[in-house]
Amino acid sequence: PAPIVLDSDPGIDDAVALQYLLGTGLWDLRAYTTVGGNVPAAQTFRNGRALARAFGIDRDVPVHRGAGRPLTRLPYAAAGEFHGPAGLGAEELSDSTAPEQTESSAQAMLRLSREHEGELTVCATGPLTNVALALSEDPGFARRVKRLVFMGGAAEVPGNITPVAEFNAWADPDAADLVVSSGIPYTMVGLDATHGWRFHAEDLRTLEEAGQGMALTSRLMSWYLNAYDPASGCPLHDPLAVGVCADESFVTAADGTVVVETASELTRGKTVFIPYDADYPRPYYSESPLVSARTEHRGRIALGTGPRDFAKD
Ligand code: BDR
Ligand code: CA
Repeated sequence: PAPIVLDSDPGIDDAVALQYLLGTGLWDLRAYTTVGGNVPAAQTFRNGRALARAFGIDRDVPVHRGAGRPLTRLPYAAAGEFHGPAGLGAEELSDSTAPEQTESSAQAMLRLSREHEGELTVCATGPLTNVALALSEDPGFARRVKRLVFMGGAAEVPGNITPVAEFNAWADPDAADLVVSSGIPYTMVGLDATHGWRFHAEDLRTLEEAGQGMALTSRLMSWYLNAYDPASGCPLHDPLAVGVCADESFVTAADGTVVVETASELTRGKTVFIPYDADYPRPYYSESPLVSARTEHRGRIALGTGPRDFAKD
């Protein structure tokens, strides 16, 4: 199995992403790093530890506490509407009794990038604050990481927290922009793709029939489905990012550059996607110093659902 860090703000779909990652058998999860986002950082840390316990990994996988606020802005706005007041629906999970890690999420990522230079995948399913802090402390993080796959942004579709911005990118736009301009090899898995892979009421029945090991996930997904819309299903945002770490064919992706809006309050966190294409951007645009400086850093951007069926996987 390949070394990976999962950086999350659990969060219901974050929790499901963790269980999915463990279930693939493909990964050696070196750390579960938490970050504030869906709920405040103290709560995502507690949730992360409780989930590690519930999934039977709390003695093997260290859980780290992450950034309590975005790089430059007021504390994260909560997403309790979709995740419940404490982030995990109606669950009241037992706290983990494993010793608390004192190393922060960003410090753990930096250490692991040195221990597994060129091999470490980082999957981020919350605001990108921890990754940005790691890069700010040591820009070499960008070249030591094999790939960063993050759930966030909306390249060509509307947002889900504002008309133009997706929640994770909006929550800490300065972090997101720092990350995509750092030179780190990245794949952005945003709403363009996640809205296409939906979980439906009939999938709930499959989970319910799967037995005790899926009982928690089944309750969480039932809560999430009701918070979205039971009739049209709920997107599998964070699990899809985990899937893409192993197999890009869950999405269709293109080469391009992402620039995140940090100046405007109105369009805060909008992810502007500049395709890498001989005819585009148009010369008048590419001659802009902002754009030409930024298009040096090219990433992979998911633009839709891929040929391989993620929902079945
Ligand atoms: C993202 O926002 C969070 O609420 C979800 O966990 C997911 O990471 C979707 O916009
Ligand atoms: Ca999340």
